[in-house]
Amino acid sequence: MEKVKIYSRFERFWHWTQMMLILLLIITGFEIHGTFEAFGFETSVRLHSAAGWAFLILTIFAIFWMLVTGQSRQFVPVRNNIKSQIMYYISGIFKKEPHPVKKTADSKLNPLQRIIYFGLIILVFPVQLITGFSYLFFHYPDKPFAFEGLEAIAVLHTLGAFLLVAFVLAHLYLITTGHTITSNLQAMITGYEELDEETETATN
Ligand code: HEM
Repeated sequence: MEKVKIYSRFERFWHWTQMMLILLLIITGFEIHGTFEAFGFETSVRLHSAAGWAFLILTIFAIFWMLVTGQSRQFVPVRNNIKSQIMYYISGIFKKEPHPVKKTADSKLNPLQRIIYFGLIILVFPVQLITGFSYLFFHYPDKPFAFEGLEAIAVLHTLGAFLLVAFVLAHLYLITTGHTITSNLQAMITGYEELDEETETATN
């Protein structure tokens, strides 16, 4: 086993800030939707808009960081090992087989994670931001651009919210599937992870 630096300081800051914002957006969003009561409708509306702005600013910083450091390449989907990764999650994991793909600082996402994160970054986040800000600026009568007929925007925004809830649930499970039950979590806290050199093969 070898201790390897996987996540930089910025990446960890980005991850945990994003986690808090997305949780807040989910809780306040579904209160606005009428699913449950948490902070009270008006407070939730205010918190939701504030978290929406914070999420936009964080996303701009993250895009800047990805482009400057070249880390955006880590999120590009690859063809190799998709099947072996699926088989690992379906059966290998329960037989304590080794992870089929080696995790390194230069390739920290497995082929399935690459597809999911790419989809989030290219599709779900932009859809939530564009529909969220359309809602904010065009929905309310006191806004200069307000107009009727935002149903499609509202449906897309709510659909995106359900996808994010599904993502968070799957993500929570997958956090526990590292070398030990807490190794993935520890890596995102400390930046370092204990990795096994011999039993795995590289993604690409
Ligand atoms: C990224 C995660 C996000 C999630 C999970 C989320 C979730 C939700 C949900 C479930 C609703 C209720 C939709 C309905 O019942 O029609 C909602 C409404 C809304 N969202 Fe989001 N949202 C997110 C991001 C954003 C962003 C980035 C903004 C931008 C400011 C935003 C602005 C709004 C606004 C203005 C409303 C309508 C509030 C109202 O009707 O008073 N949301 N959101």
